[in-house]
Amino acid sequence: MDCSNSNEKIKILSIESSCDETAAAVVENGRTVLSSVVVSQVEEHKLYGGVVPEIASRRHAEAITGVVAEALEQAELSLNDIDAVAVTYAPGLIGALLVGVNFAKGLSYATGLPLVPVHHLRSHIAANYITNPGLKPPFLCLVVSGGHSHIVAVEDYTKMKIIGKTRDDAAGEVFDKVARTMGMQYPGGINLDKIAEKGDENAYTLPRPRVADAPYDFSFSGLKTAAINIIHNASQKGESVNVENLSASFRKAVVGCLVDNFMKAADDFGYTNLVIAGGVSANSLLRRRLEEECGKKNYKLYMPELRLCGDNGAMVGAQAYYEYKNGNTANLDLNAAATMSIELG
Ligand code: KG4
Ligand code: ZN
Repeated sequence: MDCSNSNEKIKILSIESSCDETAAAVVENGRTVLSSVVVSQVEEHKLYGGVVPEIASRRHAEAITGVVAEALEQAELSLNDIDAVAVTYAPGLIGALLVGVNFAKGLSYATGLPLVPVHHLRSHIAANYITNPGLKPPFLCLVVSGGHSHIVAVEDYTKMKIIGKTRDDAAGEVFDKVARTMGMQYPGGINLDKIAEKGDENAYTLPRPRVADAPYDFSFSGLKTAAINIIHNASQKGESVNVENLSASFRKAVVGCLVDNFMKAADDFGYTNLVIAGGVSANSLLRRRLEEECGKKNYKLYMPELRLCGDNGAMVGAQAYYEYKNGNTANLDLNAAATMSIELG
């Protein structure tokens, strides 16, 4: 799809409520962020060690009107200036998604604006279009979030093919679980990453799981169990693990799996433009390792800026532009879905 030669300025108001951030943004032509507002619920979920779905839905319902109004105000626009309303409709927590979907449907009904449903992982990928204005498909993308770990061939803005995926836990999920077992607060991934910087990554020996006959797939649950066993065995003996060293060793193992499979897929499928996306794309070791590997092979690496790695409305507006240009709009019977393949998006 070639969207580059246009003088039109399409402004999309976009809404995200798939997990624990209520977010809205106004994005022009998929690349220019006119405003972006994110209200996080993370402090409340910390009390429970993870996201409580019912609380998430309630907080979205309370926040969404103000967040959307603020996004318009920051962009100095009214609904009359907007060309379409976009919303994350899948995958995610169903009650949380429904808050955004129903709000967007209400706006669409009241204004007559087209409604653009956006797949959450597609929007994580699109965060890269904001940070890297020169980036265009085709490219290979490692999508790593709290719920998903995929290697995706992005053949065009709205045409994706899954090359590999996790057979069990997602990378973000195992970072969070191991971090929690070591006593770190939710969301543990970012804390583990910080603490790992001070540790010896060779201090603990951990497995490097591979999936037989599926070189691009991941399996993280055995690795997670191995790390948790180290923690529990130590506590049964009245000892404690060295948190810095175990964080560093665990991070090295997870990132090693991600980098190995991603680079192999790039080589085998002939991609030299590589992209990372999703919350775990903020991981400092993952970013460093991929910079090294891509440097060696002269591949081009694109990464979202850190503030766009986590959930936000701007990335929804970026992907929505390409969905809209491709005619992917919905009627008012749009429903949310807890699961949905990125290929069908
Ligand atoms: O994409 P995201 O914000 O939400 C989902 O769509 O799931 O990803 C959240 C995940 C959490 O598991 C969080 O711990 C992880 O991304 N994460 C990190 C880092 N920052 C966030 N994992 C490892 N290292 C980080 N620096
Ligand atoms: Zn996400």
